[in-house]
Amino acid sequence: MMKHETIETNAGILIALTLVVISIGGLVEIVPLFYIDDTIEEVHGVRPYTPLEQRGRDIYVREGCYTCHSQMVRPFRDEMLRYGHYSLAAESQFGHPFQWGSKRTGPDLARVGGKYSNEWHVRHLIAPKSVVPESIMPGYPWLARNDLQYDDIERRLIALSRVGVPYSRTEEEFQANIERFGADVAPMLDIRRARENLEAQARAGNYDGDPSRITEMDALVAYLQVLGTMVDFTQYDEGYFVEFR
Ligand code: HEC
Repeated sequence: MMKHETIETNAGILIALTLVVISIGGLVEIVPLFYIDDTIEEVHGVRPYTPLEQRGRDIYVREGCYTCHSQMVRPFRDEMLRYGHYSLAAESQFGHPFQWGSKRTGPDLARVGGKYSNEWHVRHLIAPKSVVPESIMPGYPWLARNDLQYDDIERRLIALSRVGVPYSRTEEEFQANIERFGADVAPMLDIRRARENLEAQARAGNYDGDPSRITEMDALVAYLQVLGTMVDFTQYDEGYFVEFR
């Protein structure tokens, strides 16, 4: 009794003990994050974005698409019936800044990749009402007009590698990526070949339907088409449970 009264009547001791108690709670929550590499399990198929997709992602952020679109399928039955398998932590592992979002004026885009053709996306982005008459989404016609700026692509990828995205700059890192992501993916993650890869993907994909130029539309559509497609959920039990590698 007396001891408790001493604590309650002495602000200094009360503050000190309160801090001790709170910091225990804090440590329990924070310490596991220092082992984040173990916290996010590796899922087969998840890889960093290619240079072209990454530029598309930059444009997605620049244009504020996240103000109307989330990119996270919640683990609820209605969401999964509408959008597909719920999002895994690993799927946004290489996204900086993440685009989970919380506003859904439009539908969730976490699994929009492959849902529509490139041509549909181009028409929709230029004038949404031309393909979805009731749409309230604004048009982004300049994306098809603007040439894609990518002279700083190396620096963008270096910045991402500083926050932990495994783009390679040395032969050693390149070999590690071959081991981790496979021999067909690793070259696309090599900063030394970023420019040539970006051009090759834009040419091969012809996302905006105009093979003569590389536009912002090419990059954004390349990004939209890869969303949610990295993990092959058909290998897993009814798509409801995910087995980790
Ligand atoms: C003002 C809110 C708003 C903004 C900003 C917005 N959208 Fe939308 N978006 C919508 C709405 C509403 C729909 C549903 C109607 C439609 O398909 O047009 C939609 C639909 C879509 C779809 C089709 C999704 C599906 O599964 O059918 C895609 C893809 C899309 N938006 C991409 C984008 C991109 C990329 C941007 C940024 C360049 C963007 N949106 C900005 C509101 C918005």
